[in-house]
Amino acid sequence: MSETIMNGENRLRVNNVRKMRGFIAFAAGMAGLLFGLDIGVISGALPFITTHFDLTSRLQEWVVSAMMFGAALGAISTGWISFRLGRKTSLMSGATLFILGSLGSAFAPNVQVLLISRVLLGFAVGIASYVAPLYLSEMAAKEDRGKLISMYQMMVTIGILAAFLSDTAFSYSGNWRMMLGVISIPAFLLMVSVFGLPDSPRWLASKGMFVKAKEILCKLSTTDDEAEAELAEINESLRVKQEGWGLFKSNKNVRRAVYLGMLLQAMQQFTGMNVILYYAPQIFKSAGFANTEQQMIATVICGLTNVLATLIAMKTVDKSGRKPILKVGFAGIAFGTFLLGVCLYMINAGFNAGWISFVAVLMTLFTITSFAMSAGPVVWILCSEIQPLKSRDFGVACSTTTNWIVNMIIGATFLTLINSFGIAVTFWIYTVLNISFVVLTILLIPETKGISLEQIEKNLMDGKPLKDIGV
Ligand code: BGC
Repeated sequence: MSETIMNGENRLRVNNVRKMRGFIAFAAGMAGLLFGLDIGVISGALPFITTHFDLTSRLQEWVVSAMMFGAALGAISTGWISFRLGRKTSLMSGATLFILGSLGSAFAPNVQVLLISRVLLGFAVGIASYVAPLYLSEMAAKEDRGKLISMYQMMVTIGILAAFLSDTAFSYSGNWRMMLGVISIPAFLLMVSVFGLPDSPRWLASKGMFVKAKEILCKLSTTDDEAEAELAEINESLRVKQEGWGLFKSNKNVRRAVYLGMLLQAMQQFTGMNVILYYAPQIFKSAGFANTEQQMIATVICGLTNVLATLIAMKTVDKSGRKPILKVGFAGIAFGTFLLGVCLYMINAGFNAGWISFVAVLMTLFTITSFAMSAGPVVWILCSEIQPLKSRDFGVACSTTTNWIVNMIIGATFLTLINSFGIAVTFWIYTVLNISFVVLTILLIPETKGISLEQIEKNLMDGKPLKDIGV
């Protein structure tokens, strides 16, 4: 009889843990969705905004890059907010800025207000891209940490696709204000869901709130013993006295983790994925997708490929691990960009056989797939896993800011590269970079699947080589 009651209680607890984890995944997923919506929305809205405000090409560039600029600023400053006030408060400030930025852009009476709103939105994107993976890494069970952060990345790709579809829907009426304003709806949903989120037990413990930390760990674990053991591990990593910048200056191992995070994000951006996404419509055009409707189909195909290939990462990242899929991904991007370069070289040299354009389209999709199943999610996963607790905010701020700064550099140099070297050589530059990333992955990147954040930290602080801190 009493065993039956125990079993019943246990089942109830397991159910509650599952619900709680589901809710956490949903809220962080909303942050990912908004990240994707905001990076995806502007391409469809820009032509209408340009006509409305009679923008010069310089101002058009500003409207696009104001968001990247805001994102870099947001990522740097969130380090402080997230460290002092916690992950939950940071997500809340992100949600508020998403709402303000979307409504500000939608109702902008002039280009100045639009630019300020775009910086605010960027700030929100910077916060979301910083806090959501970090929060998920701290809330997840070690066995499915990778899957959870890949799910967040999948929401980013769904956001990019959804932005395109909504842009298309509003393009018939030319209503750019609706394109930008409609994003305030998921932003509002994010805000409401953040209210119900628990704060991260790791952050709470780092601020000395052990009782609260234990309470949340109990809600996330199926037994009290499991929660106790996790809290003990967290306490162990809090024995280091210094924090953040101080720890970075004084501790070589912390510096190694910070540089590794920055390198990973630079690698992700230098794969050239955003260039491929940007250039894809042209490639499809040369393959005969010439009219507006066919171009739209082409963009949907790229967006869907991006979403579906992220599913591969979700399925494999906690089983075969981070490192193998990173190697396969970088090698795939190298292969794809190489052949894409060959096709574009041939097309530009006047060979206009249909199969060349067909191979170019195939290689575009192959490159997108290679990125989405590897560096897309895995870099965000690794960056939130490798930083020691006491300097986690500082480390993740450095890596996320690197992502946005390199993203800006890639955007700003892309046209110059094409004008100076031609499109084929531009893609071959990315081929060489991706080959070198396979080597860097072998030499430097750790395998962190199924290992607790505290064990990774212990290995790092014990001075193990970077590639072995997950072993
Ligand atoms: C990258 C973005 C990219 C997106 C594409 C993210 O992981 O950080 O720069 O646009 O993936 O899906």
